[in-house]
Amino acid sequence: AVRRDLEGLRVLVTAGGTREEIDPVRYIANHSSGKQGWALAHAALARGAQVTLLAANVEAETPPGAERRDVGSAAELAAAVAELREDADVLVMAAAVADFTPRTRAEAKIKKVEGQDAPPIDLTRTEDILRRSVEVRAARREVAPGAAPRIIVGFAAETGSAQSSSLELARLKARRKGADLLVFNDLTAGVFGAETNSVRILDTEGADVAEVTGEKVRVAHGVLDQVVGLLGDVRLQ
Ligand code: C5P
Repeated sequence: AVRRDLEGLRVLVTAGGTREEIDPVRYIANHSSGKQGWALAHAALARGAQVTLLAANVEAETPPGAERRDVGSAAELAAAVAELREDADVLVMAAAVADFTPRTRAEAKIKKVEGQDAPPIDLTRTEDILRRSVEVRAARREVAPGAAPRIIVGFAAETGSAQSSSLELARLKARRKGADLLVFNDLTAGVFGAETNSVRILDTEGADVAEVTGEKVRVAHGVLDQVVGLLGDVRLQ
């Protein structure tokens, strides 16, 4: 039986992948299936948490007992997280959020024109919701020690590059983002849409905390084990 070690705690999970509209018929998206976020919601519910899922373009049925809000774009997800994060004990950012979005959305479908090149799509940066959440919490903690969310968990999917291994990139990202935990997914192995996952959990300094491989719900429990561990540390302080 699963220990109900998240009883009474509010867990906010982002899941899926955002869509950035180019015109009324086209968008820029990513391969995130939402399965790991869903598994986190299931696992947190089983451990007694009150779960809110912020679902970005996920078709799956809502896990029984979870509250759900659907969002489309990175901007919509950012607004929803900003609204809900202060009421959450734990924020888990499992969604794949677009880093870039079209600067403008065309009112009408963009047409191809005989004899003309393809039009460029002018992109602009989106807000880094995870980083912003960490910054906002740090600012609030200046005046209200222990301000929520108590734990912030980020995800990092990396493929590596010619210069750096994916793990090195994830360690750097952990430090840059400042989340309490960063769940590193090695995309070299290819996990999109799969039922299983293999992750390495890093702390805020990028150091190894745990490794978990298996069904996504097992990985979810592995992540929540670390969350529970950190919550225990917080309680002791
Ligand atoms: O920088 P990168 O996109 O690899 O970071 C991944 C982590 O940051 C994930 O937890 C994702 O949900 C979050 N993220 C975000 N806002 C963005 C991009 C990523 O919160 N614009």
